[in-house]
Amino acid sequence: MSTQIMDKVDKTTFLYEKIIDDIRNRIANGNLRPGEKLPSVRKLSRDWDVSVSTVLQSYIALETIGLIEAKPQSGYYIRYKSGRVLPEPETPNIQSAIKNYGCNELVTNLCELSTIPGLISLGAGIPGSDVLPTKTLNNLLSRIARSCSKGINYEFPPGNSKLRHELAKRTIEWGGDISQEDIIITNGATEALSLSLQAVAKAGDTILTESPTYYGVLQLIENFGMHALEIPTHPKDGIDIDAFKKAIKNHKVAACILYPSINNPLGSIMPDDNKRKVYEILSGKDIPLIEGDVYGELYFGQTRPKPIKSLDKKGLVLYSSSFKTIAPGYRVGWVCPGRYFDKVKKLKYMSSLANASFPQMAMAEFLRTGGYERCIRNLRKKFISNISIVSSLICEYFPDGTKISKPQGGHYLWIELPENVNSIKLQRLALKENISIAPGPLFSTKDDFLNYIRLSCACSWSSVIDKVIKTLGELCKKAH
Ligand SMILES: Cc1ncc(COP(=O)(O)O)c(C=O)c1O
Repeated sequence: MSTQIMDKVDKTTFLYEKIIDDIRNRIANGNLRPGEKLPSVRKLSRDWDVSVSTVLQSYIALETIGLIEAKPQSGYYIRYKSGRVLPEPETPNIQSAIKNYGCNELVTNLCELSTIPGLISLGAGIPGSDVLPTKTLNNLLSRIARSCSKGINYEFPPGNSKLRHELAKRTIEWGGDISQEDIIITNGATEALSLSLQAVAKAGDTILTESPTYYGVLQLIENFGMHALEIPTHPKDGIDIDAFKKAIKNHKVAACILYPSINNPLGSIMPDDNKRKVYEILSGKDIPLIEGDVYGELYFGQTRPKPIKSLDKKGLVLYSSSFKTIAPGYRVGWVCPGRYFDKVKKLKYMSSLANASFPQMAMAEFLRTGGYERCIRNLRKKFISNISIVSSLICEYFPDGTKISKPQGGHYLWIELPENVNSIKLQRLALKENISIAPGPLFSTKDDFLNYIRLSCACSWSSVIDKVIKTLGELCKKAH
């Protein structure tokens, strides 16, 4: 470990956490492998220019979460895990049925649980305050508030022009032919989705969705009196193209809602070829696509996945995202509604009139100064490392018959448990142990995911995670 590492150290985080993160990243990237010896405590303290006790603190924390082990008179080593490899979950090959969504209360509970102090939150997809750029953004916000008198007044749709300019600039990365005039700022991705859906469909219409999909999609569809037509979606490459074609042929579909670049809960990315096929099919029938891209920037591979919007020559795609992963409470999202721009803008006026001005200004500045880019890069690393740690603990502690996704981005793991495990019962048992999880039925209107769970790996749980996953593994045996 070289002294350049010190460049990465920013003074807002404890040094020992930086060392932990660095070693976790090296394990996640395969640069440190099971059985390899770590540098001695003295050497690392010299390399990092920190005290011996700081390094020891880091090593002890890493030992507690089961990543490294101390060998008497020899030093610290990367731990061998059980060596057990679990397969990926199956996609139930059910016929797409249209049913109502019965999990609204479960969703509310899931969100409320995430606010309980002391609860280990693996349920709601809410990043822990320790992984968010809280201090940086709040400082930025107060600086803006001190120096700008405009933030007190309305910022009418389509929203703050500096922010829209910065957002449009970022789309160059994925080939989006988007200018600031194409963008409307919304209250989070939730409002973007809601406005998009109202712009293209009405009560009674059929909306094609992935299965499993984000519960917010199913709630909105139901709330607007529409029906979800769910299509099997694979943990690796997204929606099943044959089933998709068949559904479009056999049903009168008013619109589709897809998350082709990192689905929640699967972490799947559709191959570019499949994205092209989906666009061609929809474009041939003039069916609008509501494309969510909330997690698109949290890819684990070399390049950012390209949204289907990059193929859109007809303005048929209503593309949306938000700053959900770095500042969910600022409620800043956006939509590029293509040919539905005027309709969405009118709906935005009716829905909430305007977004709060200061958070828009802060996010524009965060983008302009490169803070956002640095932050999202760090989050990617953090989530790769978290996913890797939790996956290996699941391999060690979960019962035979468990299957686990290998997400290509984001911070979720989708886990298929043995058939006799009831995830709702598991959720109840886990809560008694102060652990929250998201049961599978939340992600579908159908009954196919009763033995599935989603775990969010967006927090820093340091020393407790080994015990938490072990407890969940044991509870699986009781949750019948
Ligand atoms: C796919 C997806 N879309 C939207 C949201 C909510 O986003 P926002 O907080 O920006 O409304 C979530 C939250 O978990 C999500 O997973």
